[in-house]
Amino acid sequence: MARALNGLVQEISSLRRELGAVILAHNYQLPEVQDVADFVGDSLELSVKAREAGARVVVFCGVDFMAEQAAALNENAVVLHPDPEARCPMAAMITVGDVLRARKLFPRAPVVMYVNSPAVVKAEADYIVTSANAVDVVKAIESDVIVFGPDRHLAEYVAEKTGKIVIPVPSDGHCPVHVKFSAREVSVLKSIYRSCVFMAHPECTASVRALADFIGSTSQMVKFVKNCQAKCILVGTEVGIIHRLAKECSDKVFIPASTSAICEDMKRITIEKVYKSLRDRVYRVELSKEIASRVRKAIENTFSILGAEPPWLRR
Ligand code: 13P
Ligand code: SF4
Repeated sequence: MARALNGLVQEISSLRRELGAVILAHNYQLPEVQDVADFVGDSLELSVKAREAGARVVVFCGVDFMAEQAAALNENAVVLHPDPEARCPMAAMITVGDVLRARKLFPRAPVVMYVNSPAVVKAEADYIVTSANAVDVVKAIESDVIVFGPDRHLAEYVAEKTGKIVIPVPSDGHCPVHVKFSAREVSVLKSIYRSCVFMAHPECTASVRALADFIGSTSQMVKFVKNCQAKCILVGTEVGIIHRLAKECSDKVFIPASTSAICEDMKRITIEKVYKSLRDRVYRVELSKEIASRVRKAIENTFSILGAEPPWLRR
């Protein structure tokens, strides 16, 4: 088994060199996929890395919307998604029609789209955010009313943090994995592991977030763990992140706040599929030029409102 894995890792490395490819993996990927990647990160970091790497070929180990975003930002690269069936169910909860209807109902409210959405929907948005920058972007927008899709829990979190009226579109968009955390279960765990701190992703429900010592994106969680004094962490996000946390913070103990918080779509990307993706150059993510350019525009608006230059425009 270990020999077969080593063989695949070697094959992947030589194909990567041959093709001038870069392998990007989300923090929820399987351990062996994280270990073979050139870079592991959250949605925001991966979008930026895909562009910064300047690679001819990008193998994107994550779900559909992430690979699409990498394609939108890398028009000159071939972006490969090892399994196009790895689709985020939350991203599938919003349609272009939902955004157009919201624009009619709230014509003066800017539309902020969470990165977990299809590219065609992002193309209709004014700003595109990740969980790492959603609060800062909404704070910076000069409007007290914002349309926000598709995660209603992140919308609610942004409203709490900014004091603005944040209208969730659709009304019940959510991550089926993060809504599995229950406040009751977390409270019991906190009472058992008294020295533990609890960190939660903003996609969790309000009652779970209320129990958190820290709320942030997956990579913000990694930074928090590195800087906190606590030796024991209750993890309120998908369990895949524990592989990275244990590797980078080996002196700490990590306890999943729910053992059922597993994103099956993220786990569809296996090391064998990464190998086949490089070997057969599959599956290429295709985006129309028009959609890609509208997505880039919304991302550039987002950087600009934060007073930052998109990394791909930096000299
Ligand atoms: P991050 O941007 O925090 O990595 O989150 C992506 C995601 O899909 C969370 O479920
Ligand atoms: Fe989508 Fe949730 Fe999986 Fe993240 S954890 S990719 S939001 S289903």
